[in-house]
Amino acid sequence: MGGREFKTVTVVGAGTMGHGIAELAAMIGLRVYLADINMDILNKALERIRWSLGKLAEKGRLRESVDTVMSRIQPVVSVKDGEFSEDLARALSESDVMIEAVPEKLDLKQKLFAFADKHAPGHAILATNTSSLPITEIAAATSRPERVVGMHFFNPPVLMPLVEVVKGEKTSDETVQAVVELARRMGKEVVVVRKDVPGFIVNRILGRLMETACILVERGGYSIEEVDATARYTLGFPMGVFELADYSGIDVFYLVFKAMGERGFKAAECRLFEEKYKAGEYGVKAGKGFYTYPEPGKFVKPSVAKEKAVIDPALMLALPVNEAAWLLRNEVSTKEEIDKAVKLGLGWPKGVFEFADELGLDRIAGALEKLKSEYGVAHAEPDPLIREMISKGALGRKAGKGFYEYAAVEEKRLETIIIRKEKPIAWIILNRPQKLNAINPKMIEELSRALDELEEDRDVRAVILYGEGRAFSAGADVTAFQAVTPIDVFRFSRKFQELTLKMQFYTKPIIAAIKGYALGGGLELAMSADFRIASEEAMLGQPEINLGFIPGAGGTQRLARLVGPARAKELIMTGDMIPAREAERIGLVNRVVPLERLEDEARSMALKLAEKPPLALMAAKLAVDHGLEVNLWSGLALEAGVFSLLFSTEDVLEGVMAFLEKRKPRFKGR
Ligand code: COA
Repeated sequence: MGGREFKTVTVVGAGTMGHGIAELAAMIGLRVYLADINMDILNKALERIRWSLGKLAEKGRLRESVDTVMSRIQPVVSVKDGEFSEDLARALSESDVMIEAVPEKLDLKQKLFAFADKHAPGHAILATNTSSLPITEIAAATSRPERVVGMHFFNPPVLMPLVEVVKGEKTSDETVQAVVELARRMGKEVVVVRKDVPGFIVNRILGRLMETACILVERGGYSIEEVDATARYTLGFPMGVFELADYSGIDVFYLVFKAMGERGFKAAECRLFEEKYKAGEYGVKAGKGFYTYPEPGKFVKPSVAKEKAVIDPALMLALPVNEAAWLLRNEVSTKEEIDKAVKLGLGWPKGVFEFADELGLDRIAGALEKLKSEYGVAHAEPDPLIREMISKGALGRKAGKGFYEYAAVEEKRLETIIIRKEKPIAWIILNRPQKLNAINPKMIEELSRALDELEEDRDVRAVILYGEGRAFSAGADVTAFQAVTPIDVFRFSRKFQELTLKMQFYTKPIIAAIKGYALGGGLELAMSADFRIASEEAMLGQPEINLGFIPGAGGTQRLARLVGPARAKELIMTGDMIPAREAERIGLVNRVVPLERLEDEARSMALKLAEKPPLALMAAKLAVDHGLEVNLWSGLALEAGVFSLLFSTEDVLEGVMAFLEKRKPRFKGR
């Protein structure tokens, strides 16, 4: 019998998970027996279901009336005189499937499954919503292990889009197929966990993240806020790690990880969680956990400052990536499904393998080494799969191949620059490192040509300007200024200015990634980009005055527009260099990051921009940059003009459609 033909289900356990599962089943038209040990619990569960259905109805997400859906659910008292009741036996005898959601105790589950095995019809499938116990051992209590399967919902089942369908050792493919169909009928995305490993996919990866969070605080000297800020702002997770623990219950995680540990999931000891657990400070429900809340049960999102996002993302994700590699190598699931699981089960903006490819496997291995040697995490040994990939050069996106394949990296070396296409983004790298990337006429010509070429390439959506060696650029090549006439210099200046205008009014976003010196013409180039990200040790300035002249490639104009005339004059007239943090403070750079993260930050920002609608990006640049040069009403007219023009693009249709369909838009630039 396939999942499409199921008519009746018994859900055993009417708690947080059980009542939600019963609600989902009733919503797709199944007759539902909802069982728990007494009528009090059942009545409370029915009330919660009615409330939730009401909410769904308000949002127009219920096709029938609340009463119609409710009428399909029949409460069943499951226990009488300490034994499973006849009512439960009768419900099971009429059911095509049982979904169990009782407390995580193996003996209790085994007893229930033995009972269900005795009373349910031969074709019935017995599913467990366990998150930490082995399906195989639960199945062993029945005479039909091939029809016992894990169906791991996430809290709250009605809203969370994912179900992990877990195969026990003896579970048949037909059984897996049937519950996959059932979960899909319930509107869920499914990942199939092909081996009965403790924690399945999501909890194993989450377990590693929480373990890491703990290690970073207990052994790395980082604060809880720093961990959570990095999770939220650097990695883009919906919640901080400790915030999530508070939100879902520290007790829940403590017990799940303990159960996983007992079954061989080796993790570093974590006093932090244990202490909170023992103190009964379970998080939101207790009013106090890692953060404090106004009253028990009332969640107010803890505020953590963006500036606290200081932890290397590779360090945060090294253990989760390593775990995912283990899952993949052991054929527990496919890379696509593992990525889907963390995106849908944990709300990560990218899959764990996508993150790994973006960060680079060499950095992940480096972070594992640090966890091992500095923090004493003995099991932070790179998985053989990661070692093998590194030895083959499959380092991730930058290599064109990691866990996934990427459009081949194309590199072209000109005399003074390197053009590197890592589609959908491209790098232009100033390449005169011995001269600190001093800008000569050849470089200006090549930069201009490179921009033209990348403009033509529809697959390139954003450009990063970067420098080889220890500097971004120490300015115009001073040696070219010997024995020149004013007219030579005038031509040079105009050529350079043309280049900066080309950048400013380029049809794609340009990011300048600045390390070391950005001086004189180097800073003028950077100022013509749309965004500037600087490394912590970067030094910026317009030192021309010290040579007897002034900036000649837009510096006097753009610097004043960026930081105001007083600060601009100070920089130009003293010739002093300022450090990156000061540049950030006055608005000359958008962001400052540690040097070792500069390339990644630039790449992530470029990739983020590459996902936006190209024509709207172009319109935004035009409206802002042109607007700065004209009066307000002309600027507003320009804005209205390009704003309205965008409504002739396919991307607007796609954007609105994707919003309504709650999916990620795919913009094409048409
Ligand atoms: N034009 C031509 N060559 C330059 C240069 C420039 N703007 N900036 C640096 N270089 C060269 C240096 O001459 C040196 O070459 P060499 O090894 O052949 O002697 C090389 O780059 C390394 O620079 P160096 O001065 O040894 O490095 P440093 O770390 O000691 O000092 C700076 C770095 C940036 C402070 C210093 O090079 C400097 O002041 N440069 C000029 C900056 C300037 O005025 N720019 C505005 C020009 S419009």
